[in-house]
Amino acid sequence: MYQALYRKYRPKTFDDVVGQAQITRTLQNEVKTGKTAHAYLFTGSRGTGKTTCSKILAKAVNCPNAVDGNPCGTCEICRGIDDGSVMDVLEIDAASNSGVDNIRQLREDAYFAPGQVKYRVYIIDETHMLSTGAFNALLKIMEEPPPHVLFILATTEVHKVPATILSRCQRFDFRRISSEDIAGYLEKIARQEGVQLEHSAGLLIGKLADGGMRDAISLLDLCISRGGAVTAESVAQAAGLAGSGHLLALSRAFAKQDTASALEQIGNLHEQSMDMDRLCGDLVAFYRDLMLIKTVEHPERLVVALPEELEEMRQLAGQMNLSGILYTLSVLQETQNRMSRTANRRTELEMAAVRVCNPVMDQSAEAVLARLEALEAAVRSGAAVPVTSVPEQELPPNSRLEPDPAGSVQQNREKPRQRREEPAQEQAPAASPRPAGDSAVDLSAAKRFGPWQEVLGRLIKSNPPLFAALKQSDAYEAGDLILIDAKNELFFKLIRENAFAKDSLRDALMAQTGKRYRLGPYRPQEQPAQQQPDPLERLMESARQAGIPVEET
Ligand SMILES: Nc1ncnc2c1ncn2[C@@H]1O[C@H](COP(=O)(O)OP(=O)(O)O)[C@@H](O)[C@H]1O
Ligand SMILES: [Mg+2]
Ligand SMILES: [Zn+2]
Repeated sequence: MYQALYRKYRPKTFDDVVGQAQITRTLQNEVKTGKTAHAYLFTGSRGTGKTTCSKILAKAVNCPNAVDGNPCGTCEICRGIDDGSVMDVLEIDAASNSGVDNIRQLREDAYFAPGQVKYRVYIIDETHMLSTGAFNALLKIMEEPPPHVLFILATTEVHKVPATILSRCQRFDFRRISSEDIAGYLEKIARQEGVQLEHSAGLLIGKLADGGMRDAISLLDLCISRGGAVTAESVAQAAGLAGSGHLLALSRAFAKQDTASALEQIGNLHEQSMDMDRLCGDLVAFYRDLMLIKTVEHPERLVVALPEELEEMRQLAGQMNLSGILYTLSVLQETQNRMSRTANRRTELEMAAVRVCNPVMDQSAEAVLARLEALEAAVRSGAAVPVTSVPEQELPPNSRLEPDPAGSVQQNREKPRQRREEPAQEQAPAASPRPAGDSAVDLSAAKRFGPWQEVLGRLIKSNPPLFAALKQSDAYEAGDLILIDAKNELFFKLIRENAFAKDSLRDALMAQTGKRYRLGPYRPQEQPAQQQPDPLERLMESARQAGIPVEET
């Protein structure tokens, strides 16, 4: 008879359990030294080994031939527990026996000494499903447990278990199993089954299973049943992993800001009966992956994709900047939300494509940031910037940099002059002398601002673009002033030009420290900015000298 692989390969001893060494080692020690608790709570996501360890523990405490805390697996008792013929080891599935009666019965039985074995073991699976009455009845026994009783409560949702019960249990949190550990175990199974399994295929299964061994083994089972060697491709097929070719193509059009091609592709996919809702969701996931590729060191551990696809995504991400990715992601997520409320999903997606391909039309902070970063890159590389894609004031033509010899006040210069007369509250004291009357800040007293990373952590949620611009930044504190040492000029531009950026940074500082800080750029005195000439900074400096509003104070 065919036996499902995940049943066939249920670990028989603590040593066989993968990826939960801290738990199994502790349990083994307790069994070995006879210091087991009266009640255990095993929690963690599904397929991580909770039921498996419950069974091993039930055998280990009762097996007369236990070695090193492990059950022998072959004696009458071990085999009896495995096949369910030992009545003193009882498995209760709370999902189907949530009634108070079952626990009442259990309460009566519990006081009788076990017949065949040392410990009467109650394994209560899906404990969180017990009714309030059942929990209360259970609590009564757990408050004064008979010495020969051992409870093992397993649950995926520990927050639904009453605190009164939790406090009487020794708790173990089962972790998601890493893709590498899963791949290793699958390779062992494949060898015993005489099946060829590629390492990359094992890793892909591990990622798809999201840390659950049971799902991983089931997927392997499915792949094996299709015959032949198990490869990354066959795994992708068996798992119904839709190829990401259309997502790559669409994203390439987005990156090139090719509106016509993007709309044509959406039209084609629509004709092929592709669900627009699904397509939008897949695009969100795809851009999330691009963001990961752009920001984390080992994205291959987090991104579920075939190796070749991952390589193509890497190349695509290499051609994009982070704020562009974040901008697209925000547009797509917004679209996804709107789609749930409208019948015309295709139009929604088409509008998203137009916005993504034409950030110039978009006034959102993310769109502005995406434009700024593109501009910055262009200025750095010395390439000309197409006038149509850049708002005028971003890159002033040379003529505007020249001081007006006639002294006539031009419309577009009036405002900046007025602005510059306001006290330069948030200018770096080191960069420019502070106006008289402003409280003097002793810069020599500036010290490293400790909770900076925590503040940045808050920004991830409140202002992702600003967070991105603050990558590899540092901060110093002098009085009520936070001086920011950012490697990315984009940050200074944002802070100068975008009130929301300033507010979100001040708010994050406030939330972290409870203090209202003023903000300023940090420029180490021994290393003036001129030592690292930056074309954009130079440009802005000339503009500043000409009275053009590049610095809002
Ligand atoms: N940590 C693990 N090591 C090895 N196999 C495991 C592990 N966790 C789960 N499995 C596999 O998955 C199957 C189901 O695991 P189970 O212990 O019932 O998971 P759950 O945590 O949902 O109770 C087992 O029969 C076994 O094949
Ligand atoms: Mg289970
Ligand atoms: Zn035994």
